[in-house]
Amino acid sequence: MTAVDEVWLDVADGEFLVLLGPSGCGKSTLLRMIAGLLEPSAGRVLLDDADITHTPPQRRDLAMVFQSYALYPHLSVGRNIGFPLRARGLSKAAIRAEVAKVAAMVDLTELLDRKPRELSGGQRQRVALARALVRDPGAFLMDEPLSNLDAKLRATTRAEITALHRRLGATVVYVTHDQVEAMTMATRIALLNEGRVEQTGTPAEVYDEPASVFVARFLGSPPMNLLDATLHTAGNALMARGPELDVALGIEGPGIEGGLPDRAVTLGVRPEHLKVVPPEGAGFRAQVTAVENLGGDEVAHCRTGSAQVSVRGPRPLGLSTGDRVGLSARPEHLHLFDAGSGRRLVWQPAASPADVEPTTV
Ligand SMILES: Nc1ncnc2c1ncn2[C@@H]1O[C@H](COP(=O)(O)OP(=O)(O)OP(=O)(O)O)[C@@H](O)[C@H]1O
Ligand SMILES: [Mg+2]
Repeated sequence: MTAVDEVWLDVADGEFLVLLGPSGCGKSTLLRMIAGLLEPSAGRVLLDDADITHTPPQRRDLAMVFQSYALYPHLSVGRNIGFPLRARGLSKAAIRAEVAKVAAMVDLTELLDRKPRELSGGQRQRVALARALVRDPGAFLMDEPLSNLDAKLRATTRAEITALHRRLGATVVYVTHDQVEAMTMATRIALLNEGRVEQTGTPAEVYDEPASVFVARFLGSPPMNLLDATLHTAGNALMARGPELDVALGIEGPGIEGGLPDRAVTLGVRPEHLKVVPPEGAGFRAQVTAVENLGGDEVAHCRTGSAQVSVRGPRPLGLSTGDRVGLSARPEHLHLFDAGSGRRLVWQPAASPADVEPTTV
């Protein structure tokens, strides 16, 4: 079995790269290869252009922060943080000064004399973070460092790590399966699927232009609606048609005449981009099956043809179970994927007939 396959990733200086993907997709394996805890069966790991594929972990100038804090239980917080410096043989006074500086950064100054067992989960995680910070490494590698924290603490620690990254200009490779962490913390996301990179891009790029059905499904809450459809032309307009849907894709003109006969596609549209309209002549016709109250927003779950579609908007949406509604979305909010490969199709208003054929990216 191959856990990580043909991955090509370039991490720029100062970048906060998030490796995102479902459980078992190979995130930790990839991070451990970067850290030197696992040797790849093929390929190379480069740091600042130097080949470190066979360099032992302790000589890589990378600091790793794990999900489990791995603190020394018999050492005080201060000595836990200072541990990497003692190994380097720094003087006591120098170590104390460095520990004090880093402890202040992560708000641990008052707790330096405590033992790890006398700390909360969030405080322990900050000690682990401080121990990485004190080394002033070339890059930080973090594997789900927040997953043991409760929701509120996760949100505040998330913000702290992001702020630290900005302040220090540090390079971070951060593993998570949590899309909110990825969207809020990353300067760039690499989405992994079964050991391969499905897409890399800024959070906005992967959210707004998912390269595949897999990415479209992975990001967003609820995830993007995906519907089977077939392309056809009505007059000069390019349309996607399926059970209970017939949607204009926003392309008109003689260029598309006959260009795309009956191509099978997956039509995608995010729940927040669907608007409720009268059923007559609407792009999508649907029946509401349930309405969920999220506090600020509401989500209406609907059936259209044989598919499920969700609609998200500020509460109240004004919908009740059983309502028959029309739904519409602006053409720029529609996504097309190849029905077979699941890859995104690019369709642009055409200058000439040859440009009309959707191309797979
Ligand atoms: N030491 C190992 N020996 C054999 N297979 C392994 C080993 N470690 C991980 N795997 C397998 O490799 C694949 C990737 O595992 P990995 O731990 O990298 O996933 P992950 O993306 O970090 O998942 P999670 O989000 O659950 O932590 C999985 O199918 C896993 O079962
Ligand atoms: Mg993992």
